[in-house]
Amino acid sequence: MQLSTASWPEIEAYLSRSRGIVIPIGSHEQHGPNGLIGTDAICPEVIAQEAGDEDGFLVGPTFNVGQAQHHMAFPGSVTLRPSTMIAALQDWISSFTRHGFTRLYFFNGHGGNIATINAAFSEAYAPWSLRGEPAPFACKLVNWWELRGVGEVCKRRFPVGEGSHATASEVSVTYYKYPGFQKRVSMDPKIAPNGPIRDAADYRARFPDGRIGSDPSQATVAAGAEIVGVARAALIADVHRFFDDAG
Ligand code: NI
Repeated sequence: MQLSTASWPEIEAYLSRSRGIVIPIGSHEQHGPNGLIGTDAICPEVIAQEAGDEDGFLVGPTFNVGQAQHHMAFPGSVTLRPSTMIAALQDWISSFTRHGFTRLYFFNGHGGNIATINAAFSEAYAPWSLRGEPAPFACKLVNWWELRGVGEVCKRRFPVGEGSHATASEVSVTYYKYPGFQKRVSMDPKIAPNGPIRDAADYRARFPDGRIGSDPSQATVAAGAEIVGVARAALIADVHRFFDDAG
């Protein structure tokens, strides 16, 4: 069930049987020569929407711009400052809790978002902690690539050149969702270099085509379909554990 295509009476009815919502969260940033700029938003969105449609849990709108300051030397990247993102997440959390949601499962597609999302959770809990009252809601952060079984599939599909940015796996997931937007681009070197992430100019100097450690020319629709299938089942199980207060 998708919030974007539901009516308010349908959400009111949903709240009478569940107080949980899954919110995909990602980024719009360059993903190398053949990766879609929306990759980190698309991956959690497609997995969450397929899982929500199969299982019946509610999937919120995708929080689709995040922490991408280090990608800003590449055209098309969009970023929030950490303080802006924390403030925006407060308003998203307050909107959902105002309607009675008590379990907010943030399903993330971008490693650069992790610290800021956790800071936003601390901001959300802080007023309750300082008042000495229990918070009437709980937030959880899960990265799609950490769901049970997903890492094994990615490693089997791409034993060499998976990398850490513009990975073969994440590009495969987007090609599965949008097969008409596959881009066949020759890349040199075949596997991109590794190194630290600092500011935007330093990033572009170290990683001229945007990739880190990866060979995403290996990406296929079939690999994306397998990854989404494994992730979808694992997400349903993990969401139920959280919604049922078991972790
Ligand atoms: Ni990514």
